[in-house]
Amino acid sequence: MRDNRTGLEYDVPITDGTIRASDIGQIKAADDAPGLAVYDPGFVNTAACRSSITYIDGDKGVLEYRGYPIEQLAEKSSFLEVAYLLVHGNLPSKAEFEQWVHEITYHTFVHENIKGFMQGFRYDAHPMGMLMASVSSLSTFYPDAANIADPDSRHLQIVRMIAKMPTLGAWAFRHAQGKPYVYPDNDLSYTANFLSMLFKMSEPKYVGDERIIKALDTLFILHADHEQNASANAVRSVGSTQVDPYSAVAAGVGALYGPLHGGANEAVLRMLRRIGSKENIPSFIEGVKSGNERLMGFGHRVYKNYDPRARIIKGAADDVFEVTGVNPLLEIAKELEKIALEDEYFVKRRLYPNVDFYSGLIYEALAFPPEMFTVLFAIGRAPGWLAQWLELTQDKEQKIARPKQIYTGERTLAFTPASERWA
Ligand code: CMC
Repeated sequence: MRDNRTGLEYDVPITDGTIRASDIGQIKAADDAPGLAVYDPGFVNTAACRSSITYIDGDKGVLEYRGYPIEQLAEKSSFLEVAYLLVHGNLPSKAEFEQWVHEITYHTFVHENIKGFMQGFRYDAHPMGMLMASVSSLSTFYPDAANIADPDSRHLQIVRMIAKMPTLGAWAFRHAQGKPYVYPDNDLSYTANFLSMLFKMSEPKYVGDERIIKALDTLFILHADHEQNASANAVRSVGSTQVDPYSAVAAGVGALYGPLHGGANEAVLRMLRRIGSKENIPSFIEGVKSGNERLMGFGHRVYKNYDPRARIIKGAADDVFEVTGVNPLLEIAKELEKIALEDEYFVKRRLYPNVDFYSGLIYEALAFPPEMFTVLFAIGRAPGWLAQWLELTQDKEQKIARPKQIYTGERTLAFTPASERWA
């Protein structure tokens, strides 16, 4: 590297297509000047870790968990098997899988006091806010979780977290409806039990339609991890302080809540409702192109091609609509996609539908209000957050996350006390 300010040249090794930011710190304009740093708002071109969990090739539209293509996992695996794969790094034997399912099923119940405080939320509380608060509360119920150096404790917290997410998510849903919270039914599979906690009323047992269970399980698989996205980064950043995993995952839930991340599925549905009919699409697109708003569910930091998850979701939508009847907003979504994919603005910027574009339509068909969509995303993403957290705790190179800044404020001002300034 040649520093144009001084004309000096430096050798900076390139490993795995990256240079170490600390290696460029030796480049200085003068001996007493600060070392050269990288300015990268949004971490657009900065690798913050080594990871063997998820691989994405954004140009080709490829997504793999631990090396297995998402298309195969979505078609042939189950959410709990994928969760095992993400957390452990390999597929389970029969005995390992049975043990894993047993452990997760065993831990679905939450402390009664959690129910008590969830009931204290306002009647119209957003379920993501309730989920974030209840996830972080788990650290107070399991203080042993602070022992992050102990592999047995780490395993137990991971099992607890994956097991309790549907319970907390379902209770947040029931709360908004003023309905009694339903306890887990441990005879049922992970996803069937979730549906039971959502929709069971006075019947002694609630077993959802097999096709709906399968579709929701597939959606969970599609959301299970996505390498260093904003919420995984939040989990890693908070986790780097060595806090317990519930606090770290709560940060992930908070990051996911935002409309540019998981909140986009809720925003897509509101957008489709606002457009209302196909005739209104051209004027909506014009508004997007003139920068008044974004086409929600389109574009991605990494994918510059069709998001492979969106393609699979389109297929799952057909299975769900077979049971529920077609969502009338589907026609608007398909037309919107068609027009956008042919429009110069979107083509030039390589903006394609992402995972959130069609998922909301399925969720709505399943009778979920838009506020619940991101909760469903969070339940699916929990194993990914935990796998990222686990990898972080075992990575000797990791340090507390603490970026630099370029200071732009005043310096060494003379302070005048308020009594003199206001005199
Ligand atoms: N509609 C209109 N224009 C867009 C959109 C969009 N959805 N996305 C990006 N652009 C434009 C943007 O205005 C910019 O144009 P220009 O170069 O003229 O300034 C260009 O495309 C690059 O966009 P960017 O904002 O620099 O890209 P980014 O990588 O920082 O943002 C994104 C990625 C996902 C936040 C963004 O595409 C977006 O806001 N999409 C809509 C929200 C959404 O669907 N989010 C879900 C993401 S996938 C699942 C998840 O993470 O939860």
